Amino acid sequence: MSLRLAVLASGTGSNLQAILDHVHGRDGIAVVAVGSDKPEAPALARARERGIPTAAFPLADHPDRAARDTALADWLAGNGAELIVLAGYMQLVTPAFLARFPQAVVNVHPALLPAFPGLRAVEQALAYGVRVFGVTVHFVDEGVDTGPLILQRALELPHARVPEDVLPQLHALEHELLPEAIRLIAQGAVRVDPADARRVLLDP
Ligand code: GAR
Repeated sequence: MSLRLAVLASGTGSNLQAILDHVHGRDGIAVVAVGSDKPEAPALARARERGIPTAAFPLADHPDRAARDTALADWLAGNGAELIVLAGYMQLVTPAFLARFPQAVVNVHPALLPAFPGLRAVEQALAYGVRVFGVTVHFVDEGVDTGPLILQRALELPHARVPEDVLPQLHALEHELLPEAIRLIAQGAVRVDPADARRVLLDP
């Protein structure tokens, strides 16, 4: 079993940290690159501390998204990335980017998709008045948080009113679920059903 993965993150990078602490360097899995759209993202510093190559690809440095994503994909491929993990990466990737890594881009989303896609998912869920929150890890397709679902886990918080009532437990759940999904992918236990592109088959 071996898997070379890259992580893209725009912010704090607590999910990256969970990957570095619980997945990186074990069972043939290695984080080979960490990229961002934000040069100052704390996630990049976390990667540098572990000696992992980092780079930032701000949109402002490129003529358009297509050019930015070409440069990003070239850099990721140049580092040998086989799986791209979006961990709080707050940019949409282009169809051409996805074509470079077919069925090999995954995202963690802080809601039970298809509920509350896009930005501020927890705030959306709170405004709706849900009693069950959750986390989804899914393959990325050309839509916004619409790709086939790999893992989901729920969190019952019927009395939650503000993000602070949800986020600590939700992040803890993400920090379990994303490493778990990466381990399953490394084991070759995850594939999109050839008979139904919406469905992901997980080997027992
Ligand atoms: C995570 O909660 C992740 O699910 C969310 O951003 C946060 C990043 O936290 N992603 C999205 O909302 C994507 N639509 P982190 O930087 O501490 O890992």
